[in-house]
Amino acid sequence: MAFTPKISVVSHRDRKASNKPDATITPVALTKKQKRLLKDKNRKRILENVTKGGVCVEIGVWRGKFSKQILDIVNPLHLALIDPWQHFGDADQSDAFSGRTKEIQFEEIYQDVCKDFADQITNGQVSIMRELSNTAIAQFEDGTIDFAYVDGDHSYDGVRADLENLFPKLRHDGIIAFDDYHRFGWWGDGVLRAIHEFIGQHPSQCRVLMVEGAQIALSKLGPLPNPEA
Ligand SMILES: C[S@@+](CC[C@H](N)C(=O)[O-])C[C@H]1O[C@@H](n2cnc3c(N)ncnc32)[C@H](O)[C@@H]1O
Repeated sequence: MAFTPKISVVSHRDRKASNKPDATITPVALTKKQKRLLKDKNRKRILENVTKGGVCVEIGVWRGKFSKQILDIVNPLHLALIDPWQHFGDADQSDAFSGRTKEIQFEEIYQDVCKDFADQITNGQVSIMRELSNTAIAQFEDGTIDFAYVDGDHSYDGVRADLENLFPKLRHDGIIAFDDYHRFGWWGDGVLRAIHEFIGQHPSQCRVLMVEGAQIALSKLGPLPNPEA
């Protein structure tokens, strides 16, 4: 059944009460379920632009919900699922995703993901890399990834590092997409700033392909056409 969000306009007073600086760009109040459905729809739109049968990576897998969508829509030749499934006790990370989950829960979640994708792991379509993104990405050859989805460490440094490490690994016309392209979470402006800075520093090597709600997808451009040719 098609999903049609019930739209209710947020009043000026509600906007003030929400105390969120970006409230003006999301003038709709959605229930949790509606938000989830909308996110699924937005991510599906991005996946529909990804070349089928290529090499995909997902950084930050959690329970593998989006990994299933990648398999269903893109049917990649290979999908690498990258996540340490590990609790980081760092005080700075206390509000972060990994800081809120206990070590034992991570172990259970990791085991469940392995079970859920057991068939694809056996036939070689999926690999699980239980490690941080920086060491995992380093294992890919340059120019070999068709699609990367970044949803791991949302801090400025984390997103920046993932982008810098992944970009050379993408094929020309490859897509790198990010979740949580907004300023509502513990990461503040980290996701936005890291992406915007990268685009500014590589103005002719990438372009914004789409922004769908809190999803942003960039595509890697090939060499500039030779005007003499
Ligand atoms: C928001 S969840 C991912 C949700 C998943 N992409 C989905 O849509 O279902 C974030 C995950 O990122 C992982 N993570 C945090 N820092 C990471 C890093 N540096 N490298 C890889 N994964 C990381 C956490 O362990 C957590 O499982």
